[in-house]
Amino acid sequence: MPIYALGDREPTIHPDAYVHPDATLIGAVTIGAHTSVWPRAVLRGDYGSITVGERTSVQDGTVLHCTQFHPTVIGSDCVLGHNTHVEGATVGDRCLIASGSVVLNGAVIESGAVVGAGAVVSFNGHVPARRMALGVPARVREGHEVPEDMVSGIVRLYVENAKVYRQQLRRLD
Ligand SMILES: CC(C)(COP(=O)(O)OP(=O)(O)OC[C@H]1O[C@@H](n2cnc3c(N)ncnc32)[C@H](O)[C@@H]1OP(=O)(O)O)[C@@H](O)C(=O)NCCC(=O)NCCS
Repeated sequence: MPIYALGDREPTIHPDAYVHPDATLIGAVTIGAHTSVWPRAVLRGDYGSITVGERTSVQDGTVLHCTQFHPTVIGSDCVLGHNTHVEGATVGDRCLIASGSVVLNGAVIESGAVVGAGAVVSFNGHVPARRMALGVPARVREGHEVPEDMVSGIVRLYVENAKVYRQQLRRLD
């Protein structure tokens, strides 16, 4: 599993987290309990720090980076879908950052919010709690509140899936 220290910056991975062997973690990266990090995800904590809470899935191909001025902070019980890119932003708890979306420096996604597939949340963008942002650039959908339990099923699924991978994944080549 490619997990690298950069000088004295070293990843901290909770013993109950699952990091797939093809994910890459570098530097100041903290991963919480029951969080899972899937193949080809890259979490590069070089200029600043990256923190991911508990039970969050960081799915395949996701890139998490940070800047000297903007750490990346991802809450608990979140879903970061395939190929997402979060750079120097803050994401609250129970958020869906859907496949292929981009969340840029200084952006704040409040708890329970959704960033739709393929959306781009601009620099310093803001998605209020339990609202949904769609499109490029992302716009908050008017008159719509995200259901409270929108991502809870996916969160549970990934926590269980990580246990299966931990026990059953075997490399065959
Ligand atoms: C954002 C999302 C959750 C919205 O789902 P939904 O609430 O069921 O929304 P609907 O499909 O009913 O669409 C509602 C409106 O939003 C639009 N819309 C939905 N998703 C959109 C997207 N990603 N980008 C732009 N517009 C979108 C629809 O066209 C529709 O517009 P209209 O009202 O003008 O007809 C869903 O489209 C999505 O992006 N899911 C991603 C799932 C994912 O990435 N999972 C990670 C892997 S587990």
